[in-house]
Amino acid sequence: MLEGKNIILGVCGSIAAYKSALLVRLLVKAGAQVQVVMTPDATSFITPLTLSTLSKNPVLVNYFKPDTGEWNNHVELGLWADMLIIAPASANTLAKMANGLCDNLLTAVYLSTKCPVYFAPAMDLDMWLHPATRQNVARLQSFGNTLIAPGNGELASGLYGEGRLAEPEEIVDFLSSTLKKKRLLADQKIMVTAGPTYEAIDPVRFIGNHSSGKMGFAIADELALMGADVTLITGPTAQVSRQQTVKRIDVTSAAEMLEACANNFENAKACIMSAAVADYTPAQVAAQKIKKQDDSLNIELKKTTDILKFLGERKAEGQILVGFALETNDEEQNAMNKLQRKNLDFIVLNSLNDAGAGFKKDTNKITIIDRSLQKTVFELKSKDAVARDICLKVAQLING
Ligand code: CTP
Repeated sequence: MLEGKNIILGVCGSIAAYKSALLVRLLVKAGAQVQVVMTPDATSFITPLTLSTLSKNPVLVNYFKPDTGEWNNHVELGLWADMLIIAPASANTLAKMANGLCDNLLTAVYLSTKCPVYFAPAMDLDMWLHPATRQNVARLQSFGNTLIAPGNGELASGLYGEGRLAEPEEIVDFLSSTLKKKRLLADQKIMVTAGPTYEAIDPVRFIGNHSSGKMGFAIADELALMGADVTLITGPTAQVSRQQTVKRIDVTSAAEMLEACANNFENAKACIMSAAVADYTPAQVAAQKIKKQDDSLNIELKKTTDILKFLGERKAEGQILVGFALETNDEEQNAMNKLQRKNLDFIVLNSLNDAGAGFKKDTNKITIIDRSLQKTVFELKSKDAVARDICLKVAQLING
């Protein structure tokens, strides 16, 4: 998987820099061209000579080459790279990256590059646990950078805990499996819906629901990791995509979601419809704020278009349509009815009777029912892991 890839390996000032020698060797052995960029402090832990000998390339440390007066062009370096790996990533460099500082060549390359970025932190337990570091890591992930998590064990300080640089073999395995995964749905156009819809009653009030959008965003991120070209149509939510390639379309009402779905459906190889769309919407939206008057107030509602059914009726040969069913009773029977009524390829059943499943939680428990009414029951898992199960099923259907 790494054969022929141009890799920049950023090495920071950390005792774990000694592992960079082995990492360079493994990357070169896997067929990659490796350009090492060290921070000035990293050179106190391991010599540039070691890393340049192993990488077969001069190591870069400074903006300027002191002997010739030339400068190391961080923009060219950034554009050359197919991937930037920062290992070990020190707390200091993570903080600079998270805040856009570029006071050395490595951080300037980071800001200049457009390629995928992986960072493998190494630091002492308390530095790793500090809220500032937690925030910096979360910020980098929100930029679409990928964390290669540190391991647990004895640290240079003598303390035990999390903070050890992942082993070089683990880093190479992680990179290879990430690249392999990217091929699963490479360039397939996939549409995802997420979140609630808000149906206006008057200029200040609406009918909504408790959907957080977490499940749909996790699905969109997972599809992007599998290489898909993802369009995410979402109702109002505070969620953000962790994968920068996800194209997001914001909508508010069921009618707006229908329009966005109809516009994007034709080009989509698959659609995963996880939004909690309102089934009814006020028949009239009051032009002015409704004033408090009588003891009761009746609002007439009219049915919205069932978007999933609408798409199911227009589905072309080979297009894959996936729906969700959130049920409180007769779960499997209701889900099977929805699967058939809406012409789906499979349906993801959530039962509100399962502890840990449903709205706003970080976990979910699902059953997948396919067209032949075969059931697969999954354990309670994080929403990211559930997203993986759903997306693998889609990849399986697409790739036969
Ligand atoms: N759905 C949709 N458009 C609607 C309502 C629902 O696309 N107007 C989709 C949801 O995104 C979900 C599936 O239909 O994938 C099932 O939604 P759910 O609310 O469980 O089912 P309904 O068909 O609305 O049936 P009911 O509310 O009677 O359970």
